[in-house]
Amino acid sequence: MSYEPQLEMAEPKLVPGITQRVFSGIQPTGNLHLGNYLGAIVKFVALQATHECVYCVVDEHAITAQHVQPELPQQIREVTAAFLAAGIDPAKHIVFNQSRVHQHAELAWVFNCIARLGWLNRMTQFKDKAGKDRENASLGLYAYPSLMAADILLYRATHVPVGEDQKQHLELTRDIATKFNNDFGGRIADLGLGVGETNGYFPLPEPIIQGPATRVMSLRDGAKKMSKSDPSDYSRINLNDDGDTIAQKLRKAKTDPEPLPSEEKGLEGRPEAENLVGIYAALAGSSKAAVLGDFGGGQFSAFKQALTDLAVEKLGPIGKRMKELTADPAYIDSVLRDGAERATAIAAPIMNDVKDIVGFLR
Ligand code: AMP
Ligand code: TRP
Repeated sequence: MSYEPQLEMAEPKLVPGITQRVFSGIQPTGNLHLGNYLGAIVKFVALQATHECVYCVVDEHAITAQHVQPELPQQIREVTAAFLAAGIDPAKHIVFNQSRVHQHAELAWVFNCIARLGWLNRMTQFKDKAGKDRENASLGLYAYPSLMAADILLYRATHVPVGEDQKQHLELTRDIATKFNNDFGGRIADLGLGVGETNGYFPLPEPIIQGPATRVMSLRDGAKKMSKSDPSDYSRINLNDDGDTIAQKLRKAKTDPEPLPSEEKGLEGRPEAENLVGIYAALAGSSKAAVLGDFGGGQFSAFKQALTDLAVEKLGPIGKRMKELTADPAYIDSVLRDGAERATAIAAPIMNDVKDIVGFLR
């Protein structure tokens, strides 16, 4: 069965009539894992059928937490390989790395002057990443959500597929777009650049978060998000893990002693069980309720075996293709270079509009 997520999408509210465009990004900061795949990449692939899509390897975001990263070029190629291996078509859609399109940094500066300190102070990802030693966090880590808003709005994107953890950043993006539209409302109207009922310049992008695995949890601890930065490799399934490694990690995955419930309600208070059932449902293109209909009442051992078979079937070919692609860096680089040219063709006129709206001479 192929995975066809039901993506019900709200219309962007501010400017209906504008081209529907999808934008999303992934940081090249370590091995991509099942959370990235189910929370984001699977949706990237599905949206290609209905939307114009722009997918970005956000290398400028990657230096916010650690600025010296000798592995960065390799990591950029790895994420690109994962996009292509999962089924993103770089001929029909755009795949590129952020730093090649200088307008991202330029628009982020304008947004730094629009976003308020109070807004940034509420960002939970900053608090998590900065930890206790906040004084020592980089200014870039603090301004990270403003750069993310620039990524999205530089293409006047209307839809942004992401995992649950990015919801707050999307809300901030909408706040920045709203404030820009309001504060420069007069200039936007004078220049004839407004769109839609409210005559704003930027649309208010909608996150696309739905599905059974919007927040995939660690295999070792159902209270922790599956993450690239977890020191234990057993906490996650990497996209380039081979079949034996996937099987071993799932066999060791934490569970509880009860059999699986037959209904979703029975997953309450059982985070590890809920996580594995969600992963199965997302990989199978099904729902938690349907999975429990099949496996409810049974032991974890049988369910884990079925989950292993499914995971190996779905992820095995992706890992294999990633290895082939990363063996040909010249090809990957050509994809990124071509993507950046096409991204610039969309971004440059929008950045020029922004300069005119703000009042910069150009
Ligand atoms: P990052 O690796 O932080 O650049 O995340 C890339 C994308 O994967 C974003 O859309 C995240 O929301 C998503 N993502 C990361 N970790 C998870 C997870 N554990 N569950 C679901 N989605 C995730
Ligand atoms: N902040 C996102 C993450 O950590 C990555 C990202 C950067 C992004 N720019 C974006 C996601 C624009 C969506 C749209 O996962």
